[in-house]
Amino acid sequence: MCGIVGYWGAKQASDVLVGGLRRLEYRGYDSAGVAVLTGGALHIRREVGKLQALADGLGRAPLEGSVGIGHTRWATHGRPTTYNAHPHTDASGRLVVVHNGIIENYMALKEKLQAAGHVFQSDTDSEVLAHLVGSCYGGDLPAAVRHALQQVEGTYAAAFLHQDHPDTIVGVRHGAPLVAGVGEQESFLASDVSALLDHTRSVVYLDDGNLVQIGPEGVRVSDLADNALPLEVHRVDWNPAAAEKAGFEHFMLKEIHEQPASLTNTLGGRLDQAANRIHLGDQRLTEDTLRGIRRVVVVACGTAYYAGLVGKYVLEELARLPVEVDVASEFRYRRPVLDPETLVIAISQSGETADTLAALREAKRLGCPTLGVINAIGSTMGREVDAVLALQSGPEISVASTKAYTSMVAAMLVLGVHLGQVRTTLSDADAAGLIRDLKHLPALVTKTLEMAPKVRALAEAFALSQNFLFLGRGINYPTALEGALKLKEISYIHAEAYAAGEMKHGPIALINEAMPVLAIATRSATYDKMVSNIQEARSRKGSAMGTVIAVATEGDIQIAHHVDRVLFVPDCPELLSPIINAIPLQLLAYDIARILGKDIDQPRNLAKSVTVE
Ligand code: M6R
Repeated sequence: MCGIVGYWGAKQASDVLVGGLRRLEYRGYDSAGVAVLTGGALHIRREVGKLQALADGLGRAPLEGSVGIGHTRWATHGRPTTYNAHPHTDASGRLVVVHNGIIENYMALKEKLQAAGHVFQSDTDSEVLAHLVGSCYGGDLPAAVRHALQQVEGTYAAAFLHQDHPDTIVGVRHGAPLVAGVGEQESFLASDVSALLDHTRSVVYLDDGNLVQIGPEGVRVSDLADNALPLEVHRVDWNPAAAEKAGFEHFMLKEIHEQPASLTNTLGGRLDQAANRIHLGDQRLTEDTLRGIRRVVVVACGTAYYAGLVGKYVLEELARLPVEVDVASEFRYRRPVLDPETLVIAISQSGETADTLAALREAKRLGCPTLGVINAIGSTMGREVDAVLALQSGPEISVASTKAYTSMVAAMLVLGVHLGQVRTTLSDADAAGLIRDLKHLPALVTKTLEMAPKVRALAEAFALSQNFLFLGRGINYPTALEGALKLKEISYIHAEAYAAGEMKHGPIALINEAMPVLAIATRSATYDKMVSNIQEARSRKGSAMGTVIAVATEGDIQIAHHVDRVLFVPDCPELLSPIINAIPLQLLAYDIARILGKDIDQPRNLAKSVTVE
């Protein structure tokens, strides 16, 4: 999983490449490199670590030249070292490649090339691409790429540059994202539009099997048989400033505070109070199709999976449909029982998560109607699903997902109301109540965010804890799971989450005075049960209970009798409570990680978009 940028124009290529790579660092950040054509020859710079190391090196010894390709890497084959960093060269040293994805048959290709005398410098699968294209090169770079790719199995987005072809950068896409940017006398390639926004808003989304050439003629797209394809240039409205931190110390904090706006966008145009209807925003998922559905299967990973678990409660409650939620990486290797009456919903912020994409493709193969609940709608998933429920929450840069999560839950609520109405399992009066509640949701989130100073104080008290236990029930059991994931992924504190009723079946043995327990005990149908679970744990003879912190509803004066600390959140309908309750948990994870001095936006071993298995 990596980020790619290519530039052909009149500016200093290394500046454009590093600027673009900065926007793509979320895709991976263990090493970075650029290759620039300088005085008719290729010059390569590669550094291990964050992009800044490369930028510093280029600052000390600039590379002059206006054509180049660049890469930020997240290791899949070969450790993060300088020799494994991209760009990689072919045997002649005259051709370079940057690659994102996995070449599955790279070992077989490498052995063949080695037998023909090729010597490899790295452990990567990507270097094989350079040697293979180099071995096919006879003076025509696009032809060499086309020819070489016939032998390649796997997924890739790649950009190639040959020093004998200063007028052409060749890009290819097969199973990994790549876009082209169209500027005035300049053109670009990138893994993602965010890398282009400082230079152009005119973007060409490439499809699998596309080969793109950028150069003095602008952008040319063809298939692998060299048939020219029509150029569809899209205008992107994102503001580049939207991808900056806007004064916050970290993107994560900015994104937490953006939630009133991101939820407004998710709900925008979908809640028709006058007609008491929901407009999903994609006509392709017709009411007839929805009426014919007998079952729903949700596939997703990580935080998106937890949003799917909330979605199960929502859809079962409102639409009375059986819902299964699957971790996408498990789903794809089972033999799932699916049929055309099963709606398969893929939830994903990036729309590029390899496991979710594979699960989606399996569902399509089995004839299921598919719906993507997706933030990056220009993504691969966004273009492969039958219909999209776009999150519209804007770019999410921090690896820890926050605003995309609450938008995913909001989207599932919107879908639940719509399905309930279409299937007549939800009365008009109840639908009207929910639409009204959803309209009010962004304001409620604004109010919830006012608790930030109280969460900060709590974080000061618990930042040195080695372990954390999160408990929830019902629709807030997934909230507990999400709270534990947020804490562990950015603070590296061991955190587990359980459905509170499960405690007595084993996990209660873990509890001691060093284990803070965070219990989500807001107003709900299972509130009394939750309080009993807390009491059960506290009354164990001979075992001292760690501090119990409750997330409770404002005005609940009873809760203080049962726990040590309380974080009060505004009262809200139970179905909306996973969104409200997620906020103190996001803030707590953020504050603890900040106190511990962790790398919040780019936690170790993680990347924003997991485009490999
Ligand atoms: O882009 P996706 O929503 O498909 O990503 C899925 C997970 O990789 C993602 O939610 C991950 O768990 C986050 N780092 C959690 O904060």
